Amino acid sequence: MPDQDRVVNSAASIEQRVDAVQAALDERGLEASKGVAELSHLAQDVWVPENGARVVAKAWVDPEFRKRLLANGRDAVAELGFTMPKHHRHLVVLENTPKVQNVICCTLCSCTAFTLIGLPPDWYKDLEYRSRVVRESRTVLKEMGLDLEPDVEVRVWDTTTDTRYMVLPERPPETVVWSEQQLAAILTRDSMIGVARL
Ligand SMILES: [Fe+2]
Repeated sequence: MPDQDRVVNSAASIEQRVDAVQAALDERGLEASKGVAELSHLAQDVWVPENGARVVAKAWVDPEFRKRLLANGRDAVAELGFTMPKHHRHLVVLENTPKVQNVICCTLCSCTAFTLIGLPPDWYKDLEYRSRVVRESRTVLKEMGLDLEPDVEVRVWDTTTDTRYMVLPERPPETVVWSEQQLAAILTRDSMIGVARL
C-alpha cells in the first residue's frame, strides 16, 4: 500500500471527527448537540421552498401585494409572517416576463434567501455553476433543461451577504381561475432560483 493511502485510511472519517468535536463541546456545557438539532429542524421543516411559493402565489392573485413585494421584499414577506435573518438586509424580488429570465447565483459561496426558498441545492454551491452561470448563462440554463428563445434576455444576479434575491416566475396562463393554494403547489425551488420556468 502506498504511504499516502495508509495515511488516509488511518485518519478518522469526517463523521467521526464531527462527533468528537460535538462531544467535546457538549462536555464543556456548550450544548453543541442541541444547537445542531435546532439547526437541522429549521433547515428541514421551517426554511422550506413552500414559503416562497406562498409569497409568489399571493403576488399572482393580489396586484397590490405584488407592487409592495417588488418595492420592498423584506417588508412584504413579513406581512405573510415570514422573517429573514437580520443580516439579510434586503430582499430583492426579480420579476420574470416573457422576454426576461432572471437567474440567481452566489459567485463567492452559497448565499440564498434561504428562509423563503430553502437551503441551496448542491449544484448551486458547485464551483462550476457559480463560475459558469455568469459567463455563459444561456448555455448553463440549457444544460439544466431550460432552453430559452434567443430573444429572451437572461439577467444574472450575484447574491451578497446583505442582499438576497428571489425570482418571481410568470404565472402560467392555464392557471387563470386557480386558487392561491393551487397556485402555490405548482411553484418549485428551481423556478424561484431562476433555472426553470413553469
Ligand atoms: Fe454566498
